[in-house]
Amino acid sequence: MALNVLLIGSGAREHAIAWKVAQSPNLGKLWIGPGNAGTAAYGENVEVETTDPEAVLALAQRIHADLVIVTPDDPLAAGVVDCLEAAGIAAFGPTRAAAEIEWSKSFAKQLMADAGIATAGAKTFDNAWEAREFARAIYMADLQCVVKADGLALGKGVVVCDTVAEALQAIEDAMVHNRFGPAGARIVIEQRMTGRETSAHAFTDGVTVRHMPFSCDYKPVFDGNVGPNTGGIGVYSPPGWLDPAIQSAIENEVTERAVRALAAAGRPYRGVIYPGMMLTADGPQVVEFNSRFGDPETEVLLPRLRSDLLDICHAVAHGRLAEVPVEWSDDATVGVMMASAGYPGEYETGFPIEGIDSVDSDVHVFIAGAQRDEAGVLRTSGGRVLCVVAIGATVAEARTRAYDNVRRIHFEGAHYRTDIGATADAPIEASR
Ligand code: GLY
Repeated sequence: MALNVLLIGSGAREHAIAWKVAQSPNLGKLWIGPGNAGTAAYGENVEVETTDPEAVLALAQRIHADLVIVTPDDPLAAGVVDCLEAAGIAAFGPTRAAAEIEWSKSFAKQLMADAGIATAGAKTFDNAWEAREFARAIYMADLQCVVKADGLALGKGVVVCDTVAEALQAIEDAMVHNRFGPAGARIVIEQRMTGRETSAHAFTDGVTVRHMPFSCDYKPVFDGNVGPNTGGIGVYSPPGWLDPAIQSAIENEVTERAVRALAAAGRPYRGVIYPGMMLTADGPQVVEFNSRFGDPETEVLLPRLRSDLLDICHAVAHGRLAEVPVEWSDDATVGVMMASAGYPGEYETGFPIEGIDSVDSDVHVFIAGAQRDEAGVLRTSGGRVLCVVAIGATVAEARTRAYDNVRRIHFEGAHYRTDIGATADAPIEASR
């Protein structure tokens, strides 16, 4: 096999996927649409409007792609996989109908209710007045809620509300001020859960499910989980605090149950499925389903993958996942995201990045938002700039190595959390 592969996306996740796919002896040529300065080391970056299915199809046809790997949520929701498959091009990623488990929170809630998958109680609203009444009743009962835009909102559509005033403001923002556009015209109000969170990734071709190791990402921008949420500012794997019996319960009673429920609903699922889980006092509960590799989880998972990622993606796309090995190392990995000053709010870009060449040879620097200028100088171009990933025998060792290498990389205003993985091996009662 010498497969021509098109990878869709442009983040540190895609840099990690490109790095791993490029190791396959079965790779012919890799294109990345649009890619970034990191993916360019493994293939040819090519401009494409990733949410335009016809544009992705035209590119795939032009380069004679044998396989298209679609990872970001927006292209999946736009139906890129459907368009490719209708034209006879194999694609790794769920169809629009299967990906609805991520792009509609209300659909996911209904699927979970029907399939008996544990999640917080919730109600869907198309009417702001009714939503306000429901939210008020929750706080009258001394409970709290989370207000979620039903659709995709660049990771900003979920508001965890400490007070009724915050809940009413979140409803107003989504439904009256249209802060998230059509994605917020419908909202889901969910009872707030508390506990530690973990990400449970799996490959599936709709029948066979191969679970990945568990991982944990950090959303708030500052140490101690303070400040506004980011797209993910640090990550580690595995969580030593997560009981193996609970891991099995999540795999069997959440992930595999969801795959079966989608198949039964006539929406066979192919790609990566990843429930975000919370370990509550009542047991593990689903926070949300994602229809793709997580970012930054991918950056710490793929360095632990011993098997050939291209073979896995190819097998998934052809419904043959049972035929290929999916094996993982026992290593621990820690990823520290370095971000632009001000992120996730406003930030400046264009600052030169120095020191990447000085990291240890087995440490990865996955580029999220950086581009080379005409002189070849790597400059910041996004909020999340790069993810430094180190490997160790334990999370503690990987963490020490990650920070040792982070300190060798410099750009103006660089921000990173200093507590990534600090409580990875602490008991579950400890806050992370
Ligand atoms: N790790 C968060 C996400 O990928 O949505």
